[in-house]
Amino acid sequence: MMSEIGTVGIVGTGTMGTGIATNVAAHGIAVRLYDARPEAVRAAIDQAKAFWAKSVERGRTTAAQAEAAAGRLTAVDTLGGLADSDLLIEAIFEDFALKAKLFEELSGLLPERTLVATNTSCLRVSELARHMKKPDRFLGLHYFSPAQINPIVEVVRGEATAPATVEAGLAFCRATGKKPITCKDAYGFAINRFFCPYTNEACRLLDEGLATTAEVDAVAEEAVGAAAGPFRVQNLIKPRINLHAIQNLAPLGPFYAPARSLVEVGEADRMWEIGQVGEIPPERRALIRDRIRLGVFLAVLQELDEEVASPADIDTGAREALRFTKPPCALMDELGRAEVERIVAPAIARYGLKRPAALDRVGRLLSG
Ligand SMILES: NC(=O)c1ccc[n+]([C@@H]2O[C@H](COP(=O)([O-])OP(=O)(O)OC[C@H]3O[C@@H](n4cnc5c(N)ncnc54)[C@H](O)[C@@H]3O)[C@@H](O)[C@H]2O)c1
Repeated sequence: MMSEIGTVGIVGTGTMGTGIATNVAAHGIAVRLYDARPEAVRAAIDQAKAFWAKSVERGRTTAAQAEAAAGRLTAVDTLGGLADSDLLIEAIFEDFALKAKLFEELSGLLPERTLVATNTSCLRVSELARHMKKPDRFLGLHYFSPAQINPIVEVVRGEATAPATVEAGLAFCRATGKKPITCKDAYGFAINRFFCPYTNEACRLLDEGLATTAEVDAVAEEAVGAAAGPFRVQNLIKPRINLHAIQNLAPLGPFYAPARSLVEVGEADRMWEIGQVGEIPPERRALIRDRIRLGVFLAVLQELDEEVASPADIDTGAREALRFTKPPCALMDELGRAEVERIVAPAIARYGLKRPAALDRVGRLLSG
């Protein structure tokens, strides 16, 4: 299905709004930008132009293409200036009351045919939808940073989202060069659901005195094929942001409760110190590998039980957004049920969890 989106309105042109606008305009679609601070819109347009100038320098884009893309960006100074949007993407502060108020205002301004998407990371799409006149035309489009280049977008289906809205969201993502994955409106959506416990188990290894940050990072490649281990990646996104993301998974139970060291480093807004790594004894290496895999596997098995996303989509997300060369469902299928059960069983007992039913499908998660 071709995307029928010719004009996109963006509200909130900070980090994410800028990245999304850059991506969309580069794919031939007109973009209107609005922010409560007009200087943020000017900065977004300047940043997009700087991004394209670099692409021209690197030979990835022609000067004519860069100029055409820049010509598709229009600053507007009122919300009413977005009224001709086929799709409106909201990327303002992560604050429920602020977003709810915005959607109520937009409901009075936009024609009923306009699709409206939120880029929220942690709020419930279904609850935000209650502030829209047309909740069936409302969905989540959760981009990953940097949205200019990261190919993954989680297309989130709220309780009231119509199937045609999901289809239109998927078509739009594909038309703008993205690899969309569909998911339910669940805590952490498809990817943060296992990325957070992956980093959290890494921190628990420190808390339990079982490994150093450098050792965990060194074993992460063998464990899940991560090019950069959980501590290095946290330093890129900031431990403070990672702590916040994990805290939002709290309703999922104690397995998702943040590790002591993560609370300490995150609250102090510090970075992880990652020293040199020496020879890691084989037993310790095996233990670290199991715990890293546990963080990923248990969360993925639970989300499969809850039908948050399909095994293929979970693997696409892991491969493309997190750069895991051994994505979880393929890796579990390869290891087999007995080995996966051995890895997750101690945590199931420790946290008093239900044995995930998806364990019985391990070996044919991707083929079954
Ligand atoms: N930063 C990330 O890595 C990331 C990734 C995925 C999703 N998100 C989500 O995207 C959203 C935006 O995040 P960000 O990091 O770009 O934030 P940001 O702080 O960089 O930008 C937010 C922008 O929204 C503007 N704004 C705030 N309230 C407004 C209002 N009522 N009307 C118009 N403009 C308003 C601000 O002036 C600011 O320019 C949040 O919901 C966040 O959770 C962020």
